[in-house]
Amino acid sequence: MKICVIGTGYVGLVGSAVFADWGNQVIGVDNNPDKIRMIESGSMPIFEPGLKELVAKNISNGNLKFTNSLSDGISDAEIIFICVGTPMGEDGSADLKYIFQVAEEIALNMKTPKIISIKSTVPVGTNRKVREFIKSKTSVDFSSVSVPEFLREGSSIEDMNNTDRTVIGSDDTAAIEKVSELFNHLNSPIVKCDLESAELIKYASNSFLATKISFINEIAQICDMSGADVTKVAYGMGLDSRIGPKFLNASIGYGGSCFPKDVLALYKTSEDFGYHFNILDSVMKTNKNQKNYFLDKIKKIYGDNLNGKKIAVLGLAFKNDTDDIRESVAIEVVKILKEMGALINAFDPEAMPNSEKVLGNEKINYLNTKEEVFNDSDFLVILTEWKEFKDISSENLLKLKDKNVFDGRNLLNGSEIRQLGINYYSIGRK
Ligand code: UGA
Repeated sequence: MKICVIGTGYVGLVGSAVFADWGNQVIGVDNNPDKIRMIESGSMPIFEPGLKELVAKNISNGNLKFTNSLSDGISDAEIIFICVGTPMGEDGSADLKYIFQVAEEIALNMKTPKIISIKSTVPVGTNRKVREFIKSKTSVDFSSVSVPEFLREGSSIEDMNNTDRTVIGSDDTAAIEKVSELFNHLNSPIVKCDLESAELIKYASNSFLATKISFINEIAQICDMSGADVTKVAYGMGLDSRIGPKFLNASIGYGGSCFPKDVLALYKTSEDFGYHFNILDSVMKTNKNQKNYFLDKIKKIYGDNLNGKKIAVLGLAFKNDTDDIRESVAIEVVKILKEMGALINAFDPEAMPNSEKVLGNEKINYLNTKEEVFNDSDFLVILTEWKEFKDISSENLLKLKDKNVFDGRNLLNGSEIRQLGINYYSIGRK
């Protein structure tokens, strides 16, 4: 199938490469010429496992091309996927300016009938508004289809190839069937529905997952108070197939470019409909408090003043396997530790260049290996769930002058650490 993908962010770039790898003819469009040059020369604007290789493979076999020109990109395409950002607007609702800019350009350049499909996360009602907007600017026939994306950063290629479901929403059943052809080979259900249901499935899914995380984070606080162990509680809960084991890892709170934005946007959409979404209100409050709950564990030992303290920090990305620091709780925690007077010895496997842009160079050393953070540090703080942080030698832990470890991701084995004579504080574990 001939496809045009507009936008080369996480959804667009990964989507273009995977659609091409499925044997389609794909043109990726971005209005930033530097980004296109970068991608074509083999260096990716984002770190995503396997992406570089997949893009290179499909450029060389001729399935994948990139262009700056939207009109060239869409000219032969049967399906156009809009994958541009929908950032958080000033009042917390989704800012749709990029969607409408692209919609206008499509309308002005479209010469033959198309299926126009929005993959970006957009509030319920947006596809219909965009449809009316395009209709007001062109007489060329087109269908509107909503195909929300469910990939996670860090495992996006695998997620697209092994998705739990594909959601395709439209008023036009022929268009739904055409778009389904793209996904039929995947061994998972295709949910065919109206535009509004498709849009809401996306927000409801992200908000439900965020709720699951905030729920386990509150349970973790009860665990701390009662002497229970949140990892055992989560395991026991997760064995119930109605609950499931995923997204029950207690933490310093959820971050990233999706959950914080999408929970707030659904909350705002509900308010616009005149409905107060109580649960989401609480989820946001719990998530905001969770980093303070973790910081309080540090403050209980050290007070509010960390002047003269050197802290080994492992993790800056909002989660593992990404260089993304958008809405990263790790970054927020580091900012607070710096404000409290501490000097930070930090390491993250991928996110240090991005972190340096927001944290600067004052009171923070960016180190080359996870081992180096231990040199001359007073205590350790773990903020991102990179797998490699699970494996820290006793030799390094014993270098910590104050013999204190604060694990914001429950990665380490507390009893082994205590046997070394080191105090271990985590989230909801004895
Ligand atoms: C999320 C969804 O998982 C994807 O399905 C969705 O497509 C994507 O948003 C999106 O809307 O584009 P992502 O933001 O990449 O994906 O990251 P997640 O793996 O969901 O993690 C989000 C945050 O929750 C991270 O900060 C992570 O550390 C935290 N988390 C996750 C926990 O604190 N505990 C958990 O058990 C799981």
